[in-house]
Amino acid sequence: MRGFLKREGKYKLFAILLLTFLIPVGCVQGQLSKDEGEYKNGVVVCAYPDAAQVGLNILKKGGNAVDAAVAVQFALAVTLPEAGNIGGGGFMVYRSGKGETNTLDFREKAPAMAGPNMYLDSAGNVIPGMSLSTHLASGVPGSVDGMVQAHLKYGHLKWEDLVQPAIDLARNGFMITKHLANDLNRTQAEFKKLNEGKIYMIRDTPWKEGDLLVQEDLAKTLEQIRDKGRAGFYEGVVADELVAEMQRGKGLISKTDLQNYHAVWRQALIGNYKEYRIITMPPPSSGGVALLQLLQTVEKYPLSRWGFNRDSTVQLVVEAERRVYADRSKYLGDPDFYKVPVDSLLKPAYNLSRMSNFSWDKATPSVSILPGKFVGYESDQTTHYSIVDRDGNAVSITTTLNGGFGSKIFVKGAGFLLNNEMDDFSSKPGVPNMFGLVGGKANSIQPGKRMLSSMTPTIIEKDGKLFMIVGTPGGSTIITSVFQTILNVIEFNQNMQQAVNSKRFHHQWLPDVVYVEKDALDGDDRLKLEQKGYKIIDSGPSGRVDAILKTKSGYYEGGADPRGDDTKLGW
Ligand code: DON
Repeated sequence: MRGFLKREGKYKLFAILLLTFLIPVGCVQGQLSKDEGEYKNGVVVCAYPDAAQVGLNILKKGGNAVDAAVAVQFALAVTLPEAGNIGGGGFMVYRSGKGETNTLDFREKAPAMAGPNMYLDSAGNVIPGMSLSTHLASGVPGSVDGMVQAHLKYGHLKWEDLVQPAIDLARNGFMITKHLANDLNRTQAEFKKLNEGKIYMIRDTPWKEGDLLVQEDLAKTLEQIRDKGRAGFYEGVVADELVAEMQRGKGLISKTDLQNYHAVWRQALIGNYKEYRIITMPPPSSGGVALLQLLQTVEKYPLSRWGFNRDSTVQLVVEAERRVYADRSKYLGDPDFYKVPVDSLLKPAYNLSRMSNFSWDKATPSVSILPGKFVGYESDQTTHYSIVDRDGNAVSITTTLNGGFGSKIFVKGAGFLLNNEMDDFSSKPGVPNMFGLVGGKANSIQPGKRMLSSMTPTIIEKDGKLFMIVGTPGGSTIITSVFQTILNVIEFNQNMQQAVNSKRFHHQWLPDVVYVEKDALDGDDRLKLEQKGYKIIDSGPSGRVDAILKTKSGYYEGGADPRGDDTKLGW
């Protein structure tokens, strides 16, 4: 099939027609889509098959990429409860078919009653778990306002028609994958401990693949959003339920916090790598700045000659990552509260100078503030989707509840999960968060401030035209996964699916360790690195990259991460 699809001209057209007819069966199961496919009129790549189908349907109905994104966001809130959400937040990077760029920041904010010491005991120590699985862990959700603002500015189809598919999925139910069944089974005890009343995800017998998950409360909440837009979430019955839930668990989010929440349009952060133009997310994400720093640091080295995941490539990339994550811990935070020195961090001379103490002979030791702790985790807790439409409009969105199922606390009666995004703040200088990341003043907790993120939704242009749409979940590994996926295509000549599949590695300054996916490194390369003092630790799957590449023939090729249920559909 692959060789067949690669042929030009009429064969390609025939292949597209053939695929169009095959899609209804193959793609919903995520099978055909996992292999090969190039499409002319649009592609949706996201983390759950039913949500990808919703997005594709919207594109086929004449919706644009933003319409499809709104529909996918709500569909994921139903079908991917680990990460899809209306109770969380995220970032959108947008590029129109004509080249206009923009970003939308719908990241959660600290409630007005939040403060820098809210997770500390009387001795000034961080109280374990408080920023993760309590009502105090939640920031004011941004996703619904984000979708409303995105639709107001760029949407084409009617709002109701974009929310309705999610309502149908919640009310009629959908068949769960093995992955989701496992996640639900793993979380039963916590769901029971933290919640009251009817929770649709709790049941006495274990969940299994193919079971139907019906969420009537969530369907009703989504109807409020369908009928009233922003007011259907930040005011009225849903807001009442959310605030009542906060009161049940001594949380801080108030009616005023909800009313005051507004997503923010921010100018895209733009940089270059060779002949490519990188359009990415500015602060309060650290992702865009870090990605551009990494690209600047490695640009002058002959990566393609060294080869994919060979020792020299890994060594250079690790040393670049070490330095960039050190900067992240000190300089990155919410630009509305802290003057982030973006220009200084993105001076090529600065990033080159950071490598002056780099030696090929041995690993540079990370200067330790406090040893970080890196929690092994799967990347189900955040989700990324990439969409392109027939006019070449491109959307790259990463959205999250932070931990898997967020705080694991449902808003009683409203059927949706609350985020635990407050853990992304620095609870205390130098004390690592759940991803082992440390921070200080730039990312301290202040009322109304947005917590620093690593989410790195990105769009790349070549010769003034759309080239790639990319992003991933994965906490602190997001930045390095996006970085490596870009290098895989540009330097190592991989197609989109190969670039997504390729094994990844990660270093984040602290702890001073290189995490590698199984079989990411050849035995010899690994040995050479270890002899130079690199501490290499095997890790589980890292990230779920969902990306789209415009191929030389002008078609779009999706890359759906086989590490999850990720699915690519196109037409
Ligand atoms: O915004 C951030 O950087 C984190 N809250 C993302 C969390 C995440 O990716 C978890 N998923 N694996």
